Amino acid sequence: MKKSIKDLNLNGKKVILRVDFNVPIADGKIADMKRIDAALPTIKYILDNGASIILLSHLGRIKTEEDKKSKSLKIVADKLKEMLPNKITFINETRSKEITKAAKSLKPGEILFLENTRFEDLNKKAESSNNPTLAKYWASLGDVFVNDAFATAHRAHASTVGIANYVKESALGFLMEEEVKELSKLLKGFKRPFISIIGGAKVSDKLKVLEKLFTIADKVLIGGGMAYTFKKALGKEIGTSIFEQDRIEDVKKYLSLYKDKIVLPIDNAITREFANNPAVFTSSKNDNIPADYMGLDIGPETIRLFSREIANAKTIFWNGPLGVTEFSEYEKGTKAIAIAIADNKDVFSVVGGGDSVTAINKLGYQDKFSFISTGGGASIEFIQNGTLQGIDAIQDK
Ligand code: 3PG
Repeated sequence: MKKSIKDLNLNGKKVILRVDFNVPIADGKIADMKRIDAALPTIKYILDNGASIILLSHLGRIKTEEDKKSKSLKIVADKLKEMLPNKITFINETRSKEITKAAKSLKPGEILFLENTRFEDLNKKAESSNNPTLAKYWASLGDVFVNDAFATAHRAHASTVGIANYVKESALGFLMEEEVKELSKLLKGFKRPFISIIGGAKVSDKLKVLEKLFTIADKVLIGGGMAYTFKKALGKEIGTSIFEQDRIEDVKKYLSLYKDKIVLPIDNAITREFANNPAVFTSSKNDNIPADYMGLDIGPETIRLFSREIANAKTIFWNGPLGVTEFSEYEKGTKAIAIAIADNKDVFSVVGGGDSVTAINKLGYQDKFSFISTGGGASIEFIQNGTLQGIDAIQDK
C-alpha cells in the first residue's frame, strides 16, 4: 500500500507537488479546466494543513526553443491566482538561483509555481530522461514529494519518478488515489458483461491493452482507424483507409484466439479524400470499401450493433474515438457511442483518453459516466499493468 498524503504530517513542511496541468490551450485561453479542477483538493489540503507548495507540471512536448513560446505555464499560474486566495509566485525558469532563494523563503500557505518541467528537455532531455542531477535539484527545494499527476504517471521522468529517490518522504495525492481506486474496479470484482470499446488510429498504440482486455472483457468492440487493420487481416477490401501492414500478423493471431470476443464494424462512413465531405456508407451486406474511398467512421448499422452490446453491459471501459472526430461528418459514431453508454443506467462506465472525453464534453454528458479518467495513456497503461512507474516510485506505508 502506497503512502497517502493523509499519512504525512504537513505542518511547516515544503511540499514538492507534481500535478498534470497539461491542458489544451486555444486562442490564448485554457480550453478545458478538468485537470486543474482535479488537482485542487490536493493543493487546498496541503495549504490548509500548514504547508507550502513548490508546484511542478509539464505542458505539451518541448523539442525546440520555438516550442517554449506557446508552452509556458504562466497562463495556468494566472488562472490559479484567480481561483485561490493564497500567494502564488510564478517563476519562468525550471532551475535557478532565484528559484532556490524563493523556495527557501516560502511561507506556509504559499505556492511557488515553476515553469514547464519539459523546458529542461532542451538540455539533453533532462526531464524526460530522468536526469538525476535535475531530480536532485527539484528534491532539494522542499521536504516531501507528493505526486498527484496521474495523467503523467506512466512516464519515468525526473519530476514524476526521479524526485522520489531524493526526498525523505513521498506520497500519492487525492487525484492519484481516486484514479487508482476507480480504474482498479475494471481489473477485479467487476460485474459482467464487461464490454470494452477501443478506438483510435493505430493498433500499435493499443496492442498491450488489447491483449489485456481480450483476457478480462467479455466483448471488445473495435472502431477508429485501427479497425481497418483488422478488416484487412480478414481479407476485406479497405480502399485507401489507414492500416498497419506490420501489425497484420498480430491481428490475425487475435482474430483466431479471441474470435468470440472481437466485435468489428459491419459498415463504414466513407469518402474519397481526408476531408469533412458528406459521408457515403457501405452496408453490412457488403462492407468492402471501394478502391478510391477511405473509411473515416463507423456506419449506422455498426452504431446499432455496438449500441446493443453496450445496452447489455454491466461494466464498460472506453478509450479512443470511433472515427475522425475533428470532422463533424465523422464524429457521429463517437457521439452515438457516448449516447449509448449514457443511456445504460445500470452500468459502471469508465472513459479515458482525450478524444472520447472531448466527445462527452461536447454532448455535456460528463455526469452520465461513472468515472472519467484524467489520463489517456496513463489509464491505458494502468489497465495493462495494474500500476504505473510514478506510483511505484512512491514510498510504501
Ligand atoms: C497526457 O496528456 O496524456 C499527459 O499529460 C502525458 O503527456 P505526454 O503523452 O506528452 O507524456
